[in-house]
Amino acid sequence: MSSYTVRKTPGDTAWFRHDRFGMFIHWGLYAMPARHEWVKCYEKIPEETYDRYFRYFDPDLYDPREWARTAKAAGMKYAVITTKHHEGFCMFDSQYTDYKCTNTPAGRDLVREFVDAFRAEGLRIGFYYSLIDWHHPDFPIDIHHPRRDDPDAFEQNQGRDIRKYALYMRNQVRELLTNYGKIDILWFDWSYPDQHGGPGREWMRGKGRNEWESDALIALARELQPGIIIDNRADVEQDLWTPEQYQVSDWVRHRETGEYVTWEACQTFSGSWGYHRDESTWKSPEMLIRMLVNTVSCGGNLLMNVGPTSRGEFDSRAKAALSVFEKWMHANSRSIYGCTMAEPDILPSLPRDCRYTQREDGSRLYVHLFAYPFGHLLLPGMAGRVAYAQFLHDGSEILMTEGRVDHFSEGAARGDDLLVLNLPPVKPDTPVPVIELFLK
Ligand code: GLC
Repeated sequence: MSSYTVRKTPGDTAWFRHDRFGMFIHWGLYAMPARHEWVKCYEKIPEETYDRYFRYFDPDLYDPREWARTAKAAGMKYAVITTKHHEGFCMFDSQYTDYKCTNTPAGRDLVREFVDAFRAEGLRIGFYYSLIDWHHPDFPIDIHHPRRDDPDAFEQNQGRDIRKYALYMRNQVRELLTNYGKIDILWFDWSYPDQHGGPGREWMRGKGRNEWESDALIALARELQPGIIIDNRADVEQDLWTPEQYQVSDWVRHRETGEYVTWEACQTFSGSWGYHRDESTWKSPEMLIRMLVNTVSCGGNLLMNVGPTSRGEFDSRAKAALSVFEKWMHANSRSIYGCTMAEPDILPSLPRDCRYTQREDGSRLYVHLFAYPFGHLLLPGMAGRVAYAQFLHDGSEILMTEGRVDHFSEGAARGDDLLVLNLPPVKPDTPVPVIELFLK
């Protein structure tokens, strides 16, 4: 078994660390302006203007079974959907607001259809729920609020009662965790207790556990769905650490105790989380696969985001990106599922430009080639430890020698404990080739 001990938390995280790969879905009214899910904030759009999206939201091409099949084919084992994002619009049929999909031309509970379809494909279900709400009349105006720069912002803020809003959130979380069967993940987003308006705008307060009444919110969630995984973004430490839009170089550790934690990187294909028509910063196939591999090599999960269009489809760029995962995972998922960071006594042998993952039971080591080496891969310290080596994508043998590359070897290419893998001159046709080492 892996020698790494992960910090114990209230939720059931064992399945999660095994499964490694999930789909994030950011879908809401912001798919219509199609220029970032924060558009209401960025452009300070007034309520009456933003209302046009509510009036015309009609995802007539929404086929969640198709989404679920695509996610499953890409190798994803769970999916987390935005039930409500910062704009405040609910993608589910809540009895506590009229600002919901059932009152738009969509006319149905989109979350319910998502849950049914993804569950039918055997994927686990996660709900993203925004703590921030730019629509709710009791949500106090702060520095992220679309109304922050209105000349009468202070007056508009009078009478807004965060306690009423906190109760609204509890009511909605109760709905979400009661009406849709077993929910595996609750993804709150996010807190900023220390950010406030600054000189002249001190009244614009940041928000965190006190404002959200996070303890009560979390207690409710735990009561309704024991074992559910909850992230840390409600400003109360729970099960899940969530580094966003950057790649780590080591296992994420607990800030005070230094323990390894359960963590999940979230990443976008192109920058925006919601559907963005005009973004051209789409990641290459190599980058996509490297993010997944690098994450698992550091003991984490990857939550890869898709922003469906307002008509309810993954656009062609998203489909292409997902098919990159599909092809790669078809051949290489063995180096992802049930794998984690390589054991401490193996890590020093890591060749340049590579990432290791290792099976939880320790029996197999996977070498991922981020740059294709010239001829040989040198693994110092690994001589005598590998029984058999093969490329994972086609199961073809990789010949090994020990001690030196050949008669002329000098320096690092020579050493009693050196294991040498002899690679074909041409890189296999895959963004990241993987070598599977069966350990003795
Ligand atoms: C952020 C953003 C947001 C996105 C999210 C995903 O905090 O506010 O738009 O939903 O993180 O991790």
